[in-house]
Amino acid sequence: VSRHFFDVEFIKRYIDLIALHKMNVFHWHLVDDQGWRIEIKKYPKLTEVGAWRVNKEDMPWSGREAAKPGEVADFGGFYTQEEIKEVVAYAATKHITVVPEIEMPAHVSSALAAYPEYSCTGGPFTVPTGGVWPITDIYCAGNDKTFEFIEDILTEVMELFPSEYIHVGGDEANKKEWKKCPLCQERIKKENLKDEAELQSYFMKRIERFISSKGRKMIGWDEILEGGLAPGAAVMSWRGFQGGVEAAKSGHYVVMTPVSHCYFDYYQGEPATEPKAFGGYTTLKKVYSFEPVPADLTREEAKYVLGAQANLWTEMVPTTTHAEYMVVPRMTALSEVLWSPVEKRDWEDFNTRLTHLKKHFDIMGINYAHGSYRIDIETSFNNSNSEASIRLTSEQIDPEIHYTLDSSEPTASSPLFSETIVTDKPVTVKAAIFKDGKPLGITYEKRICLSKATGKKVTYTNPPSNKYRAGGASTLVNGLTGSDIYSDGQWQGFEGNDMEVVIDLGAETSVKHLSAGFISSPSSWIFLPQYAEFFVSPDGITYTSAGKAVNEKLPSDQKNERITLSLDKLSLTARYVKVFAKNLGTCPAGHEGAGSKCWMFTDEIVVE
Ligand code: ACM
Ligand code: ZN
Repeated sequence: VSRHFFDVEFIKRYIDLIALHKMNVFHWHLVDDQGWRIEIKKYPKLTEVGAWRVNKEDMPWSGREAAKPGEVADFGGFYTQEEIKEVVAYAATKHITVVPEIEMPAHVSSALAAYPEYSCTGGPFTVPTGGVWPITDIYCAGNDKTFEFIEDILTEVMELFPSEYIHVGGDEANKKEWKKCPLCQERIKKENLKDEAELQSYFMKRIERFISSKGRKMIGWDEILEGGLAPGAAVMSWRGFQGGVEAAKSGHYVVMTPVSHCYFDYYQGEPATEPKAFGGYTTLKKVYSFEPVPADLTREEAKYVLGAQANLWTEMVPTTTHAEYMVVPRMTALSEVLWSPVEKRDWEDFNTRLTHLKKHFDIMGINYAHGSYRIDIETSFNNSNSEASIRLTSEQIDPEIHYTLDSSEPTASSPLFSETIVTDKPVTVKAAIFKDGKPLGITYEKRICLSKATGKKVTYTNPPSNKYRAGGASTLVNGLTGSDIYSDGQWQGFEGNDMEVVIDLGAETSVKHLSAGFISSPSSWIFLPQYAEFFVSPDGITYTSAGKAVNEKLPSDQKNERITLSLDKLSLTARYVKVFAKNLGTCPAGHEGAGSKCWMFTDEIVVE
C-alpha cells in the first residue's frame, strides 16, 4: 500500500480474497520510501508529511524527478489507528492474522522526509515521487535516538497488531552513508564490528531484542542473514530459495517467497499484450510449479518452513481492479500448491477446475486475469530415427492454436494443431492462439535446427554454473535454440569462466559449417563472448583449429540480443568438434557490476 495507497474498503475485499483461498496471514507492507501509511500518535509528521507525495503519475516510475519547492504533495493516504483496529478485527473474523511490516533501516525515505534527524546526513528529504535506487538515505545506525524513535513506533504498532510476528523489513539497504557517517563509524568501532554489513546485523539484532522483550517475534527479508542473524528472528526468503535454506538449516523459521514464483507484480502473460508490470514473467503455470519446501532441506529442517506467500508490490498498480488482476488467479495456484502434497498437484486438473472457480469470481465481480496466451513449443529428439517431435501447449483450455513450419506468419487458416508434429528436417515453428479468427496473444517461434551435431554425445572440459545448466550437456545439441529469455531452460550459463565442449559426431563426418549461439542481457550481467574458436579432430586427442569467429560488438553496445558465431565454407572432416568460447571475464567499466565476474550464455551448436 506504499507505492500506491488503497483504502480500507479494498483492504477488506483483499482479506476476503485471502480467506476465500484459505490462506491465513495478511502481510501488510505499511512503510516504504514512497509513503508511510500508518498513523503513529507520538510522531504525527510520519503521516502529515510521510504519507503524501507530489503526483507524478503521468511519468514512468523510474526516473521521476524529485518534488520541487512549492509543489503540493497531496497524492497518497494513510490509515488511522481506528482504521487499523477495524482491519485487524475484520481479518480476525476470517481467521486471518495481520502481520504489519515497518521497514528499516532502508525503504524509509517517507519517514526521513518527516524526521530527517534520524538519517546520517540530516537531510532535508522529500517523499520520493517514484522509484528510488540505490537506497542510500537510510536510518543512522550510530545514533541512539534513531533506536528510541523506532522503538516508540514499534510500541504503538504492537498495541494495534496482536500478531506473533512483527516484520521489520531489512532489505536493500545501501550502506554508502553509513561508510561516511562519523556516528555509524564510531558504532562499528565501539561494538567491535567488522564492517557495515555487521552494522546492519547489529541494527536488526538490537530491534530483535526489543521485539522479543515485548513477547513478540521478529521477521525480516533475507538480508537480515547478512552479518549474522538475530537469535530469535525468522526470515522471509525473497531473493531465491537460498536464504530460506540457510535459515532453516540454522534452526530459524522461514517464509518462502522467492522472486521466481511469488512476485505477483511481475508479468503473467506476454508483456506485449498485458498492462505494464514491474518486469519478470511469472505465469499461472509457473506459480503452480512452485515447491515451497526447498529440496536441500531434510525432513527435520523442513519443519522450519512456516509456509509461503506472494507479494504484490504496487509501483505499476494504481487501481484496486488492477490489484485484483495481478493476484487472481495466481493466488489460486499458490493456495493449491501450499495446501497440497507435491504428489497430488496436477496442473491440467487444476486448470480445468479453475474454470468453475472463475464463475464464482464472476459473481463476486473480481477482475481476474485470463492467463497467458503463451505457447510452449515443446520438442524432443529421437536419436534412433533422427526425427524431432513438436508439441504446442498453453495455459488456455482447448486453445485454437494455428501454426506454420515455413517461417510464414500463422493466420486463422494455417494448420490447426491437434497432435504431435514430426520432422526430420530443420524447420521454424511459428504458432499463435486464435479466437473468432483473431490472434489472442503474440506469435511464438522456435527454430528446430537439426544438424550433424543433433543428439550426439557432448562432454565438457569446462562445465557451466550449477545455476544455469539447462537440461545438461545434451541441451547444446538438442535441436532447439534458446529463446530471447536466457532463463528459458535452453541456455547454459558460465559465470566468469570460458566454455569448452567436445561433440563426438560418432564417425568421420564432412564439415562445411560450424556455429554456436549466444545471448546477452547486460542488466543481468550477461555479456557476449569475445570470440568462439572451433577445432576438429580425428581422434579426440589432436585438434586443429578450424578458425575463430570474433564478436565485434563492444560490451557497452550490447543490449538484450542473440547472436550466432559461425565459420562457413569449410571443407573439413572430423570425428570430434571442440567449441571454445572466451568469456568477457568481468563486467565492463560503467556497468553496475564493473570488475565483477560476468556471465556468458550459450545454446545450440550446429555442425553442417
Ligand atoms: C523486496 O522485494 N525488496 C523484499
Ligand atoms: Zn549514521
